[in-house]
Amino acid sequence: MEPLTYGRQWVDDDDVTEVVNVLRGDWLTQGPLVERFEEALAEYIGARHVVAFSSGTAALHGAVAAAGLGEGDRLLTTPLTFAATANAALYVGSEPVFADIYEGTLCLSPLKAERKLEELPRKIKAIAPVSFGGYPFDIEPFQIMAKDYGAALIEDACHSLGGARDGNYWRRGGARKVGLDADMTVFSFHPVKHITTGEGGAVATGNAEYARRLRLFRNHGITRDPSAFEDISSDPWHNEMQMLGFNYRLSDIHCALGLSQLKRLDMFVARRRELAELYRKHMAGLEGVYQPPARDGHAYHLFPIRVAPALRAALFTHLAENGIRLQVHYPPVPLHPYYRKRFGYKKGDFPEAEKFYAEAISLPLFPSMKDEDVTRVVDCVKSFFHKHK
Ligand SMILES: Cc1ncc(COP(=O)(O)O)c(C=O)c1O
Repeated sequence: MEPLTYGRQWVDDDDVTEVVNVLRGDWLTQGPLVERFEEALAEYIGARHVVAFSSGTAALHGAVAAAGLGEGDRLLTTPLTFAATANAALYVGSEPVFADIYEGTLCLSPLKAERKLEELPRKIKAIAPVSFGGYPFDIEPFQIMAKDYGAALIEDACHSLGGARDGNYWRRGGARKVGLDADMTVFSFHPVKHITTGEGGAVATGNAEYARRLRLFRNHGITRDPSAFEDISSDPWHNEMQMLGFNYRLSDIHCALGLSQLKRLDMFVARRRELAELYRKHMAGLEGVYQPPARDGHAYHLFPIRVAPALRAALFTHLAENGIRLQVHYPPVPLHPYYRKRFGYKKGDFPEAEKFYAEAISLPLFPSMKDEDVTRVVDCVKSFFHKHK
């Protein structure tokens, strides 16, 4: 039987044709497809500006820099995320600080976040909640906190491209795509994500000044826009480095793939939702298995179930022996050796995130999965629990 992984890309013949066309053309990078991809993504989300980056990590670095974080500043985030969310603060000389998750959403707890803000007034310059697994958490409390404490709100939406927030937003006309509610929203196009460019990422923002800084930052801090020059020059080749930036550009080859994938994003998300519903249906009432929180607008990057910690490793191995190769998302970031040694975090500091990590396994979920794949995974989980009654 074909092995199943927790996530994988879906690249079709049209995607391949688009990429090959770029390879045969004049612009492999810094060409017209970068802006076209940014515009298409902006239109999809409904955002004013989208700036493409070479990865989600680079995009997070750009967002933190654009928000003005530096030495002595802090970024508040969740322990239940990929290391890149917190590392972005370290790249600019700031310190990441963490508040625990709320068990009902698996995302940053607004109450605990506020406590952290009260503890460290004026020091936290950015709040970076993560829509974990694709769950579009209520963002309004964070918008209020960001305003009250003078912090930038950066949503790490690497798990939730194509997700939507509704319910609370009825006054603004129904569902709003993830990407509109924070000062900056960060996406990733890694192959396990909703669309892929191989490696790639982007920041969506409604703020023209943030967009300007993000564009400078991803291109060494160099501008060729005469209207932005600080020096006076009539040299037609004139360009200026105005800040320290990086080469974080996304190439035209990547953007061709992204543009082609974007056409199928709604289908990809709809299929992820269908598969998640199938899992829920087939596992309903299965003793010993807790399913992830559900809500409208969920983008279902992950489908993490929870089982008793004492059984988790055995279930993981049982699934692997049956060709189902999974992952656990995530070891809490502050408990990685690097963070423990550098900042003194220890077990017990983030009880909810730690409890989740001790119980979680992410089941396979990607849009090219068949209904039978879901049945195969669920049957395998059921056979394990049958043996361990
Ligand atoms: C929550 C989160 N943030 C950031 C990233 C980094 O994105 P990338 O792999 O594109 O650098 C990831 C990637 O897995 C992620 O899951």
